[in-house]
Amino acid sequence: MSKRVLTTESGAPVADNQNSATAGVGGPILLQDQHLLEKLARFNRERIPERVVHARGSGAYGYFEVTDDVTGFTHADFLSELGKRTEVFLRFSTVADNLGGADAVRDPRGFALKFYTEEGNYDLVGNNTPVFFIKDPIKFPDFIHSQKRDPFTGKQEADNVWDFWAHAPEATHQITWLMGDRGIPASYRHMNGYGSHTYQWTNAKGEAFFVKYHFKTNQGIRSLSADQGAELAGKDPNSHQTDLLQAIERGVNPSWTLHVQIMPAADAAEYRFNPFDLTKVWPHKDYPLQRVGRLVLDRNPDNVFAEVEQAAFSPNNFVPGIGPSPDKMLQGRLFAYADAHRYRLGVNHTQLAVNAPKAAKADNYGRDGLMASNAYGRDRKNYEPNSYDGPAETGQALSAPLAVNGFTGTHEAPAHTKDDDFFQAGELYRLMSEDEKSRLVANIAGGLSQVSRDDVIEKNLAHFHAADADYGKRVEEAVRALRED
Ligand code: HEM
Repeated sequence: MSKRVLTTESGAPVADNQNSATAGVGGPILLQDQHLLEKLARFNRERIPERVVHARGSGAYGYFEVTDDVTGFTHADFLSELGKRTEVFLRFSTVADNLGGADAVRDPRGFALKFYTEEGNYDLVGNNTPVFFIKDPIKFPDFIHSQKRDPFTGKQEADNVWDFWAHAPEATHQITWLMGDRGIPASYRHMNGYGSHTYQWTNAKGEAFFVKYHFKTNQGIRSLSADQGAELAGKDPNSHQTDLLQAIERGVNPSWTLHVQIMPAADAAEYRFNPFDLTKVWPHKDYPLQRVGRLVLDRNPDNVFAEVEQAAFSPNNFVPGIGPSPDKMLQGRLFAYADAHRYRLGVNHTQLAVNAPKAAKADNYGRDGLMASNAYGRDRKNYEPNSYDGPAETGQALSAPLAVNGFTGTHEAPAHTKDDDFFQAGELYRLMSEDEKSRLVANIAGGLSQVSRDDVIEKNLAHFHAADADYGKRVEEAVRALRED
């Protein structure tokens, strides 16, 4: 077999990859050494901006297979037949820390899924938690600033974390979740995924439903205690990456079972909780889980940078039969992601292999820009309508229209009969065993006791008291004990 030849970027053979060209032995380097110039210049440009949140992640390919009939609720083609398989790419992540952080930390985990369907790519960009800290996107940049590294100290600060939460009583439910036993997953394989938001499904008759997605892990839920997490994060900062990579390389393919909760659109207005409030769940006794299919991950990416770092998910990538709900957080996200991708990866990020449709074809009049690789020209017009058989609109909406009423304004989300910031947090607390409650209280107190200002501590304690009297009392006692130490 002939040996492969090392070349420059323009394909010319390289004579020497160990010694730069110099003016004489021991002399200065020559500008004519194209291979050296290219190597150094490309090296300087290897990094791109990391994601502003969810910077650290791991990804894998696999498939989704339909196991149950949901055609009465959505006409999405990839859910249309029992046994139908659709290729997927899933990126897991932690949220708050930078690219160089550790995996085994207390933090929500991202669960971002791209279905390469025959009707285009469908992105479901969720977390391992069914709820979130806030319910209006206008608070998101402040929230994230408070949880990431402080601009002065360069590290996460308990003062900032808890000061934000002191001003966000609606976060009490998610804090209870995060500080509880599931707050540090043992690995990406041992946790559930949730769409978290409410989405809209539309069936072939045009009837609308609201849905929530639940991916239940078939590996079983496994979590780490605060001490186990701290130890593992120090020993192997890449513990989640190692676990996922090695499991799939060994052929131990992780899987999840997808269930949905389905609410007829007509129920939404009168439901006891605002169904579009991301800080609330729909209790399963109100809307039981219905099985849809199976998600399996069976292939590691060949190149982490090309396929994981450059992966771009947008909650606004829907397919016919699936659409957004009026959830304000979701509405904010419909803008934020593609905007982030245009900054982080450029306007042509959808042409990268991991992001491009695989089972469908993108065919439109968007053109050019940095790094354009679609060489449309000779037989394709770049305007529409045209007389040359170019792609044309279908006239068919992706999903049913949403009813709106009232006046424009900076309104708070409408409160339904059972809506407040604390009831569901209290319900979650009351569901826990005595041991779980003790660990939850210890985790909260461990963080809250580090806060330097009494008024910030008091405001947070008031939230736990409002959720449940016993919860509040125990957190207060635990914080006091730690501060007296
Ligand atoms: C208004 C609220 C939110 C805003 C403005 C927002 C914005 C962003 C941005 C800008 C990114 C980085 C995207 C990139 O550079 O590729 C991101 C990543 C991500 N967000 Fe959000 N986010 C919000 C809420 C949420 C919620 C509620 C969830 C889960 C239910 C979520 C899940 C994720 C995930 C999983 C990623 C990582 C995606 C990946 O793996 O590439 N975000 N978010």
